[in-house]
Amino acid sequence: MDIFKAYQKEFKSSLEKFISDKSPQNLYRPMEYLLDLGGKRIRPFLCLMAAESFESSPDQAMGAALSVEVFHNFTLMHDDIMDKAFLRRGRMTVHEKWDVNTAILSGDAMLIKAYQSLEDYPTEIFQKLTRLLSKTAIEVCEGQQYDMDFETASVVTQKEYIEMIRLKTAVLVGCALQMGAITGKASAEDQTVIYNFGIQLGIAFQLQDDYLDAFGDEATFGKKIGGDILENKKTILYHLALKKADPKQGDLLKLLLSGAQSLSDDEKISSVKHLFKATGAKEATRKLIRHHSDLAEIELEKLSITEEQKTRFRALKNWLMNRTY
Ligand code: IPE
Ligand code: IPE
Ligand code: MG
Ligand code: MG
Ligand code: MG
Repeated sequence: MDIFKAYQKEFKSSLEKFISDKSPQNLYRPMEYLLDLGGKRIRPFLCLMAAESFESSPDQAMGAALSVEVFHNFTLMHDDIMDKAFLRRGRMTVHEKWDVNTAILSGDAMLIKAYQSLEDYPTEIFQKLTRLLSKTAIEVCEGQQYDMDFETASVVTQKEYIEMIRLKTAVLVGCALQMGAITGKASAEDQTVIYNFGIQLGIAFQLQDDYLDAFGDEATFGKKIGGDILENKKTILYHLALKKADPKQGDLLKLLLSGAQSLSDDEKISSVKHLFKATGAKEATRKLIRHHSDLAEIELEKLSITEEQKTRFRALKNWLMNRTY
């Protein structure tokens, strides 16, 4: 992503300094491994972009940018245990490469390091940043718990689903942007607006993740295609499929994602994907992603930043909505 080019090098070298090798190796190597795999790093880059939009230097926001990315990687390390995922960023997950206990402890240490990277901010800013991060962190836990509860819940509405993804994913995107705005000394009003922009962007981002989990390409996406289906996740594709299904299709879909059937993994994935297409859920998901992207645009318009800065956020938003990884 061209917009991020300006930040990539600086962020990478700050990250390298931040996680320089220590012992015990079994605590630090998994962190380094996951962080080195990179990923898109959209959260820290959004944080740096937000700071710059309020005429602060990206340097000022670097501690906050590190914090959100290390926090994000902590959530991924634990999420992969919970989701029984083998593949992350095209490589083995930490609990597969090491073991579950290592991934739990290394993840815990990353959460602590996320807070440590804020320690050098002046007291007033530090307090604002940690308050926001703590509020976000507890919401992410709530979202992750709902996500697990929904795997076996008998009825989950689309509204409840959107609230779950707001919590597990969108709040951290909002947090990243607001942290950048805080370090840039933005007004309280702008902080709220940029946070809300992040919420809509984050919801659209997670919907795209759900979409790619079924219809992406494994080599590009870097995660197992059909992983959500195998874990009986009732993602947005499921909700929209049920909405549009005839009774026979609806019953079949519910049965397939109840866990009570004897199909092989490949058969299950292909049957569910077939229903997602046949019911029109695949297309409806694209439409819902555009809807949340439009809601993000409304927030963006309200921000008191230059048109040039808005154009950069807009380009980024459009890229995220159509990403393949
Ligand atoms: C994955 O986040 C987890 C979700 C919230 C969907 P990303 O898609 O940002 O993962 P990386 O950091 O780029 O690998
Ligand atoms: C990710 O949700 C949310 C968090 C990690 C907090 P997913 O479970 O959909 O993320 P991926 O698809 O494994 O990256
Ligand atoms: Mg998950
Ligand atoms: Mg997962
Ligand atoms: Mg996913």
